[in-house]
Amino acid sequence: MNSLVARMRSAVVNGNWDTVAELSASLASARQASPPSDSRKVFLVTGGAGFIGSHLVRRLLAEGHRVIVFDDFNDYYDPALKYENISDLLGQDAFELFETDVRDDESMRSFLSGRRVDVIVHLAARAGVRSSVVDPALYVTTNVLGTQNLLDLAREHAVACFVYASSSSVYGETSEQPFHESQRIDHPISPYAATKRANEGQAACYSHLYRLPVVGLRFFSVYGPSGRPDMAIRQFIEKLDRGEPITVFGDGSFERDFTYIDDIVSGIFGAIEASRDRPGFNDVFNLGESDTISVRELVLLIASELGLVRPARDVLSLADHETSALFEELSSRGLIDRRPEQPGDVHRTYADVTKSREALGYAPAVPIAEGLKRTIAWHRTRKSLANDVSNAPLLEAIRVLSGLCRRSALDSFGREQDPGYVENDALSAASAIRLIARCDSPAVAALALHVRIGLARRLEKIASALLNR
Ligand SMILES: NC(=O)c1ccc[n+]([C@@H]2O[C@H](COP(=O)([O-])OP(=O)(O)OC[C@H]3O[C@@H](n4cnc5c(N)ncnc54)[C@H](O)[C@@H]3O)[C@@H](O)[C@H]2O)c1
Repeated sequence: MNSLVARMRSAVVNGNWDTVAELSASLASARQASPPSDSRKVFLVTGGAGFIGSHLVRRLLAEGHRVIVFDDFNDYYDPALKYENISDLLGQDAFELFETDVRDDESMRSFLSGRRVDVIVHLAARAGVRSSVVDPALYVTTNVLGTQNLLDLAREHAVACFVYASSSSVYGETSEQPFHESQRIDHPISPYAATKRANEGQAACYSHLYRLPVVGLRFFSVYGPSGRPDMAIRQFIEKLDRGEPITVFGDGSFERDFTYIDDIVSGIFGAIEASRDRPGFNDVFNLGESDTISVRELVLLIASELGLVRPARDVLSLADHETSALFEELSSRGLIDRRPEQPGDVHRTYADVTKSREALGYAPAVPIAEGLKRTIAWHRTRKSLANDVSNAPLLEAIRVLSGLCRRSALDSFGREQDPGYVENDALSAASAIRLIARCDSPAVAALALHVRIGLARRLEKIASALLNR
């Protein structure tokens, strides 16, 4: 298998497209013909190119498992960031990426036909409270129909357990704090929250009807390296670092339970261990950090780590009047753009994680100040790579390719649309591919390989015709 992958890489780098197509077919049959041994489980991770998914996949691979990822690389945020999340995994033997939409049960079922799947972790969803208010139907089709399709696949493949992402947003606006799993969740205040609540019902139903072991995880504002670009922490870090104003809704007193990504991944592992091979298991768990901070404190932690303010002491030990003064200072320097509260915003999310500690062995270990340090360190490394002029043409080539892939890509049910390429698209694809082919970085070669054999099959034909002219 490894030699096939190596031959594939070299065919890609040499632009030998016929060989790439041949090897791609051999690689698929070699994978089918070498089923994993018992110690290597096969995990299907939906949304595996996203923030939480890519961290989970990396850890599963590090522990010796095989992973299949389903992801549609939609443009809720820049798909180039999703490629970036998994570019180093693309050439690995134990990793397989299938670009598909979880609403397209036909394509998923035919991909999985004859394959073994031991565990499904279903993370693919339209995430984001505010945009769900703008396009509720998209959230319902993706999150509810998508989950239904995955539950059906879980049943058909008799998986050991089905773990899925719920959300702290199911608690809605409630005065009962901290949020506990036994609380009633009858008042979702956004379409997104309503879909996550529906998922808990769908999973409970399949656990009841088919004895499928299911676990729902209610994540509380997750952050860390490669965090979602629509979420506050990544936006705050990037904007403040560029000297641009950040948007703060309300007066900065909203409180959140921010949870570091490594703790979430450990919680997912705990959920798998607690439920696998336990027919009829059905439960939901909070995964939070149980240590709320206000948005104001969060901003100050980031600003002080970036060197923008110099608090007298550790930010979290400052008195209220001191945090207010520092916050005002950032405002007066034009770094904070205050906006009114938004419909659907919850004032406080605070997790009671007692149940997760007991049942999943969940033990959040990364406090917010430490997690932010690590996230800002990742941001700095990424920035220095991006600023390195020698990488600029390559980064541009990848950006062009991801953009073209997105345009060519799939209709809303994962089926290919008519090509409709204009010559200019094909020419920019061709020059981007030439540039990538000259680069000897394994990660970039793997990305090029993926681009060639996966999403951009039509792009490949057009570009190779141009290259061979
Ligand atoms: N990040 C958080 O703070 C947080 C909090 C609560 C719940 N969640 C839930 O956790 C899960 C993962 O969130 P994330 O922050 O990693 O988000 P993300 O957007 O980075 O990842 C989701 C991935 O799912 C993919 N996807 C979306 N729709 C799809 C579809 N129709 N078919 C196939 N793939 C599709 C996306 O392309 C993306 O790569 C989501 O279900 C989200 O609702 C996240």
